[in-house]
Amino acid sequence: MKTSSVLAAYRRYAKVYDVVFGKVFETGRRRVVSQINHMPRVQRVLEAGVGTGLSLGLYRHDLQVVGIDLSVEMLAQAKRRVARHGLTQVKALDVMDVQHLTYPDDDFDVVVAMYVLSVVPDPGQALAELIRVCRPGGTVIVLNHFTAETGHMGPLIQRPLSRFSNALGWRPYFPLRPLLDRANGIEVGPVHRLPPFGMFAMVEGRKTTS
Ligand SMILES: C[S@@+](CC[C@H](N)C(=O)[O-])C[C@H]1O[C@@H](n2cnc3c(N)ncnc32)[C@H](O)[C@@H]1O
Repeated sequence: MKTSSVLAAYRRYAKVYDVVFGKVFETGRRRVVSQINHMPRVQRVLEAGVGTGLSLGLYRHDLQVVGIDLSVEMLAQAKRRVARHGLTQVKALDVMDVQHLTYPDDDFDVVVAMYVLSVVPDPGQALAELIRVCRPGGTVIVLNHFTAETGHMGPLIQRPLSRFSNALGWRPYFPLRPLLDRANGIEVGPVHRLPPFGMFAMVEGRKTTS
């Protein structure tokens, strides 16, 4: 995955994203935000790769949500949505690379990346950054399509598709285990498979150290 290809892909997708990808990803988005909304002692939330902001209206109104995205065009759609719906829980929407966050260590109570890690060039670095800016005891949530590690169908179909990653703007072959093996300073909880067909998984971790 090259950053230039990702930027080009999301420049193309920005205006049609909600129609094409809105529904497919909706169950996961709702599940993740509902989980956050039910957490006690949470104020500052970072959503990395916020895209067109389809999740933003789902957050509790007393939260302080900061969204970042690499794509100016996707973020412009998110800004329009925030203005249109008066989403006062959204405190900032910034152009930023999840692999190089400009926030200080331990800055957020919850950090979340939905359908993002499979589109960045270095998912391990992105996850390390998400963990860094989360406070000790805080929560890191990753929601993504992950290649099933049991059975042969996932790798068999998805691995050959990997050569189209740059054109697609995401990685078809994306197993979870290697990503988690590189994650330090976090205690990983159970993996929840989500519809459709358990294609997506939500993984929640608790930051253990500063
Ligand atoms: C599949 S979309 C998901 C958008 C949104 N989270 C959703 O649920 O619909 C992936 C998003 O990640 C963004 N993105 C890609 N690479 C990124 C990076 N390195 N840093 C931050 N955002 C990135 C893209 O611009 C795009 O908006």
